[in-house]
This record gives sequence, C-alpha cells and structure tokens, in this order.
Amino acid sequence: MEKFSITTAIDYVNGEAHIGHAYEKIFTDVIFRHYKKRADKAFFLTGTDEHGIKIQKTAKSLGVTPKELCDKNAASFINTWKLLDIDYSHFIRTTDDYHVAAVQNIFEKLLEKGDIYKHKYTGLYCSGCECFLAEKDLDENGCCPIHNKKPEVVSEENYFFKLTKYKERIIKHIKENPKFIQPEFRAQEVLNQLENIEDISVSRAKTNVNWGIEVKSDPSQVIYVWIDALSNYITGLGYNPEGNIKEDYNEFWPVNYHIIGKDILKFHSIYWIAILMALDIELPKSIYAHGWIMIDKSKMSKSTGNVISPKSVMEAFNLDNPDALRYFMATAAIGGKDGNYSDDDFKEKVNADLANNMGNLLNRTLNMLVKYFDGEIKEDFINSDLSDKVIETINEVLKLFDEMEIALAAQKIINLLDETNKYVNDTAPWALAKEEKMTECGRVLYTVLNVMAHAAILIEPYCPNIAFYMAKQLKIDVNQKFASMKDNMINAGKLISKEEIHPVFLRLDSEIMGAKKKA
Ligand code: MSP
Repeated sequence: MEKFSITTAIDYVNGEAHIGHAYEKIFTDVIFRHYKKRADKAFFLTGTDEHGIKIQKTAKSLGVTPKELCDKNAASFINTWKLLDIDYSHFIRTTDDYHVAAVQNIFEKLLEKGDIYKHKYTGLYCSGCECFLAEKDLDENGCCPIHNKKPEVVSEENYFFKLTKYKERIIKHIKENPKFIQPEFRAQEVLNQLENIEDISVSRAKTNVNWGIEVKSDPSQVIYVWIDALSNYITGLGYNPEGNIKEDYNEFWPVNYHIIGKDILKFHSIYWIAILMALDIELPKSIYAHGWIMIDKSKMSKSTGNVISPKSVMEAFNLDNPDALRYFMATAAIGGKDGNYSDDDFKEKVNADLANNMGNLLNRTLNMLVKYFDGEIKEDFINSDLSDKVIETINEVLKLFDEMEIALAAQKIINLLDETNKYVNDTAPWALAKEEKMTECGRVLYTVLNVMAHAAILIEPYCPNIAFYMAKQLKIDVNQKFASMKDNMINAGKLISKEEIHPVFLRLDSEIMGAKKKA
C-alpha cells in the first residue's frame, strides 16, 4: 500500500473533551497506527470546530469572548489528545486563518457556479445540532430528540445550496459503492434520508449569528457552521480554490476514511458529498460511522451528570500512560454498534488481557530465561504449531482492520497469547529445567518470546507504550512494517539481564499500584 489517510470529526469547543470524543480519536488513532505499518506514507487529520451559535451562546453565558473560549478549549482538546498519545499529523482549528480564507473562497466558487442562491426562509433551528429541523424530526413535546430542547424559530433571508441538484448522483454513488458508507447497514439510513431532502440554508444573517466566517462578497452573512466545518477535510490538507494547493492535499486526498459518529452521518454522506460534487472534487473513499459510548449503560449527558473525561479515568486509576484506556476504548464496540464504559468492566478487561495474559507471560518467560540461561538465547528454534498460529493471527488482524473490526482484531492477538500461555503451561519449562532437559526448555522459552515479539508489533497501535517496553526487552523495533516481520524476530545470543526485566503492565488493583496511589 502506497498511501493511507484518515480523518476524525472535529469537536465543538463549547466544552472540554469527554470520553465519547476520546473514543473516536482513539479508534481512529489505532487504525492510523496500524496502516502506518502497511503504507509508505500516512496522514491523520483531526481538529476543532469553533464557529456557530452554540459557541457564541456559551461564550456569552461565561462572560468571555468566543475566541477566548475557543482558545481555552482547543488547548484542552490538544492536551487531552497528547495525554492519550493520539498521533495525528495535523490539527486544524476552524479559526485558523488559512482555513477561514479557503472556506470563503469555496463559498464564492459555489456562488459563481450558481449552486448557491438567496432565499427567504422560516425554519426551526436547533443550536445543539447546529441545523434546521423539520417538524417530523421533533419528539412529542416539540423538542429536538438529541438535545431535548425546543428549537428556535428563525426567519431570515440567507443563502441556500442546491442540494437537490446532487440527489440522484449521491444515490447512484452509494448504491454502486457498497463500501462507501460503513458499516453497510448505515447506507440504507442515508438512502432513506435522501428521499426527502430539500435545498439547505448555508449562511446565517450576521444580525443573528456573528461568530462565523463572513461571506466574502456579502459581509452581512456568515457561512453556515457545517459548511465551514466539513470543509476542514480539504482545507486541513491545504486545499484552497484560489490559492496555492499544498502537497499534503495532492498526496492524501481523497482520504481512505472519514471517521465520524452515527449522529452526524447525514452531514457527511449527503451535505459534504454534494459540496464535493459541486466543487468537482473527488469523493472520499469511505465514511465510517461509529456507535456511541454509553456510561454504565446510559447516554452521557450534562443533565444526567455522568459525563466523564479521559483525564479523570487516568487519574482515578493512577495510570502512567493511556494504554489501558486506549485498549479498552478500541475494543468497546463491534460492527459500529454502541459500546459501554464502566469502571468495573474497564478494570476487569485490562487486568485480564493486558496484565494477566500479556504482561505476565512476558515477565515470566524473561525471568526463566535469566534463571536457566543467564538471559541467553541458545537456539532460535520455534514450535511449528505456534509459528503457524502467529502467521494465521497476522493475516486475520490485517483482514479485520480492512473490515474495520478493530475490536475483533485485538481479540485475535489476545487469543494468540492465550494459546501461548497454554503452551507454557503444557510444556512446563520449569519442569524441563528441573529434569535438566535444557535444549527443550530453551526451545519453549524462545518460542514464547518470539510470539511476544510479534504480539508487541501487532498490539502497538492499541498500546504504544506497553508495546514499546515489550520491544525494548525483546530487542526488536516495534515500529517496523508488518511486511518486514520475520518468522524469527529474536536473534540467538544474550538477550537480557535480570536488571533489565520490568513488568510492562501492572494489574489495576495490584499492591504495587495501591502503593503508588498512596504515594
Ligand atoms: N463539530 C461537529 C462535527 C463536525 S465534523 C466536520 C460535532 N462535534 S461534537 O463535538 O458534537 O462531536 C464530535 C464527534 O464526537 C462526533 O463524531 C460525535 O459523534 C462524537 N461523539 C460525541 N459523543 C459521543 C459518544 N458519547 N460516543 C462516541 N462518540 C461520540 O458533531
């Protein structure tokens, strides 16, 4: 594979990052890191969505300017992604000058093309969704079902985009490209929505919304926040219809995936696609809509008071690095369905998979290598059943990533380690050593360490820190491409001394952990 590129939704900065935002960024980061090991070049774009009435209102209620609110919360998102080791290539803020200029030019281009026209309109606007809703979208109390609030009646003359002009082309594209909208069951949802689409309002009168990008040729209007936000996917790579287009755009557009939540699929698979068609720009290869993360099985919401941040989870469990949370989040849902976070499930899953299964196996094996062989590998012999299993696991993991089943892919790695644990228990190297069957004993230890070397490379996208510490003790390069993985990853000769052995992951409730917490 030559190139791989991926984007996330850009988050509203009316608050700080919560575990739902984190889910999407971790999910995307795991996919990005995996494909980095398969592609020659890879790019990951993320950022923040900073304009619109929601930000304007929040800033007002806090007594700060919208820009002050954006600066504070954009910094908080950036810090959270740093804390979670999100390895993005570029972070775009929609208040960045280059983005503002490019969006203005995009709007002008659509005006020139005749795809945008002026129209007087009265509609129901939900500031939570940042969009107009139809009567039929409301619940029995006349409220937006997502935000539980009554939309505002807005009557304005503003600009409209000829969405209906592109309806048939979008339907055709979705039908002809079954992988365009993923998971596949979401495509039907979009096709149903397409049945009833109308042209959409793409600007707001500045008298009503002033926190936005001005229409260049008509400064009495600001550009609709979703047009502004969706454009980030190309402006963030350096696209500007009037300016110099940057290399990243030529290299990485169209992206392999837009990763977004299920709630914003309509904006991406209808509005965004129509705009790209209007601009004569190639379409993204795929849009993947993930499910939502619930907290203790309920929807996270400010009013319920159950919103949790990634930072609070890391602090509560006294984690030095984000791997446990990354691993839990990346494996929280299958097939684009909703997932759930609870403290108990978190502790149980990471203790079972990362501490008992992976960490202990490595630690135990390295200690035996030191005890029986002074840390030296005598012979690079591998048990053939396990080496077959390693190859099978690599193939399955690659296939599951191509199917976007990253939770199932992680399970395959854990299954490999389960089998390896079983192999250790069955062959009992400690008993072999006691019986002085040192050749057999050495072969068992080598087989296990060699599996661990493969596992470290495969698990790195989920757990980059744990993988790094595993690789350090196994003396391998954890960032190598999958294609360069050999059957025998570890060379014969001295591998490790007693002092160099460190546990790669401690159980969350272990005594050491408790002592650390007290300290
Ligand atoms: N700003 C828009 C996106 C513009 S993209 C051009 C927006 N922002 S958001 O902050 O509300 O949401 C950002 C992303 O986080 C969305 O993909 C959304 O689905 C996702 N999530 C928000 N809460 C979530 C959960 N509880 N669980 C999983 N993802 C969720 O929409």
